[in-house]
Amino acid sequence: MDYVSNSLYGDFDAGEAHQRLPEITDIRDGHIRNEVTAAVVDIVPDYFWTAPAASKYHPAEHRERHGLWLHTKRVCTAFERYIQSMQKQGHFTGTDADAGRAACILHDALKFGHEPTSVNGTIHNHDRLGATVLSEETDLPQKTIDAVDEHNGPWYAGDAPSSHVSQIVHVADMTASDVNVDVAVKDPHDVLQQQFPNVEVR
Ligand SMILES: [Fe+2]
Ligand SMILES: [Fe+2]
Repeated sequence: MDYVSNSLYGDFDAGEAHQRLPEITDIRDGHIRNEVTAAVVDIVPDYFWTAPAASKYHPAEHRERHGLWLHTKRVCTAFERYIQSMQKQGHFTGTDADAGRAACILHDALKFGHEPTSVNGTIHNHDRLGATVLSEETDLPQKTIDAVDEHNGPWYAGDAPSSHVSQIVHVADMTASDVNVDVAVKDPHDVLQQQFPNVEVR
C-alpha cells in the first residue's frame, strides 16, 4: 500500500496503532498493552505522526518530518537493551519492564502540547502534561505515569527520576537522542521507510 502522510491524520483502530508502533506488542501484560493501544488511538495527537522531534539536541533525521515518531521508536529500542540487565540485578520485575515500555511509547505523546498547537517548539512542561493526561484518561501503572513525568531527568517540569523504571526511560531517551548513536527501529511503518530509507531495522 502506498501511503502519503495525509493518510496518517484522523481516526484509526487498534490494528493500525500496532502497525504504527509495533513496540506495543512487546508489552507482555495484556492490561498494560490494551491501555497503551487505547492511548495511542485516543490520546496521541495527529501531529505526533508527522512532526519533527524539533530539538537541536537530536540527530538530524529527528529534525525532519516524522522525526518525533522515529525518535519514539528508537527510545523503545534503547529501553529494550537495558531490561535484561535490570532484571538480573533485581531492579526490574516483568511488570516494571512493561511499565517502562509503556512510558517509552507515550513519553513524548504531548511534546508540542494539546491540539491545536504549533510544532515549532517543545512544550517546556510536556513531561508533566503527558503524565497528567495519562493519569486522568488511562489505567496505566503509576510507574508508567511517573516515568513519563520524570523522563527529562533534571530538565523540564517533571520530577527527577524516582525509580529504576524512570531512570532507564530517561537514559533510553538520552541514548536515542544522541547524535553519536545509531539506534535501529522495530518494523517501521511504510511512511517511515519512505522518509528514512537508511534507518536500521530490528
Ligand atoms: Fe520529551
Ligand atoms: Fe523523547
